[in-house]
Amino acid sequence: MKQLPLGKSGINASTIALGTWVLGGGTTWGDNPDDAESIRLIQTALDLGINLIDTAPAYGWGRSETVVGKALKGRRDQALIATKCGLWWEDKRGSFFADFDGKPMNRSLRPDTLQIEIENSLRRLGTDHIDLYQAHWPAMPPDKTPVEDSMACLLKLRSEGKIREIGVCNVSLDELQEFRACGTIVSDQFRYSMLCRDAEADILPFCAENHVATLTYMSLEQGLLTGKVGMDRVFRADEFRSNDAWNPWFTPSNRSRVLTMLENWQDLLVKYDCTLSQLVIAWTAAQPGVTHVLCGTRTLSQLADNAKADELALEATDVQRMRADAVVLGAPA
Ligand SMILES: NC(=O)c1ccc[n+]([C@@H]2O[C@H](COP(=O)([O-])OP(=O)(O)OC[C@H]3O[C@@H](n4cnc5c(N)ncnc54)[C@H](OP(=O)(O)O)[C@@H]3O)[C@@H](O)[C@H]2O)c1
Repeated sequence: MKQLPLGKSGINASTIALGTWVLGGGTTWGDNPDDAESIRLIQTALDLGINLIDTAPAYGWGRSETVVGKALKGRRDQALIATKCGLWWEDKRGSFFADFDGKPMNRSLRPDTLQIEIENSLRRLGTDHIDLYQAHWPAMPPDKTPVEDSMACLLKLRSEGKIREIGVCNVSLDELQEFRACGTIVSDQFRYSMLCRDAEADILPFCAENHVATLTYMSLEQGLLTGKVGMDRVFRADEFRSNDAWNPWFTPSNRSRVLTMLENWQDLLVKYDCTLSQLVIAWTAAQPGVTHVLCGTRTLSQLADNAKADELALEATDVQRMRADAVVLGAPA
């Protein structure tokens, strides 16, 4: 499995990383995963050379972190744990963000909530340190903590050895620069797929130029780009994939356009002897500035499929052709 540096940290992480949001279960993903299976999945990822495991307290209200912790028992040194802070639900501190599973979740990068979050994460993960600690979302009004205060707290956690490196997620370029002005930020995590290319305008070139690692998420568009979500697949109304505001590509008319695009790549599947998932992951990894692709994975067969994308080197003309097809598709209707 290929590895690339996590920014200037000196830490090398697999370019294909395991995303564990789905393992947190809950209504978001319309399923209640079997934790024993999830543990096997994470351990198999390590066996396949995937050492970067992305999780968050918010994924299943601590469940994803707990499962990751159990999976890494006895194998902690083989994994890089990337978890997050800044989504808070224990009391009213912070600013309301969204309801998940019918419960309110706040955004908070207050030092007093961060101090509690780090201890909760270390306990759930069964470890004494986190390799990459990422601010899940920037703070927002009305309880908007100044970035320098949040960073002072994160730098203190780093000096105490509780975290090795600091990363951010879901920030604008201005916000990224604000964080960087207060201390070293080794990585930026954001939504990026061939259907959602906003990061190409500023974040990706900036990160490439400044040696900030990029962890792309939803690069498979939550399964749509694997070709397995046909026109007949119905998601429950409260599932994330029914949320048109968040992912409009799942609406029937958009889905049909995406499926037509994917069907037109049959010759590429033959040429590279690969699956659509592998083709899409390899395309994502080939984009300028992209260093690590987070692949949310529910089953062992999906894991085996996605891990093999690491071996796939697409010719530049094919990368261009796929980009052109995605550009023709344009924005979701
Ligand atoms: N920082 C943030 O704000 C943020 C936000 C979103 C995600 N993330 C991170 O990024 C990771 C990836 O994002 P994501 O999980 O939302 O989306 P994703 O990786 O685009 O899609 C994951 C889903 O795609 C399907 N899938 C994956 N591999 C497949 C394969 N080989 N064949 C068929 N289907 C396959 C599975 O769907 P089924 O469930 O239907 O099997 C899986 O649950 C997350 O797990 C999380 O770690 C971070």
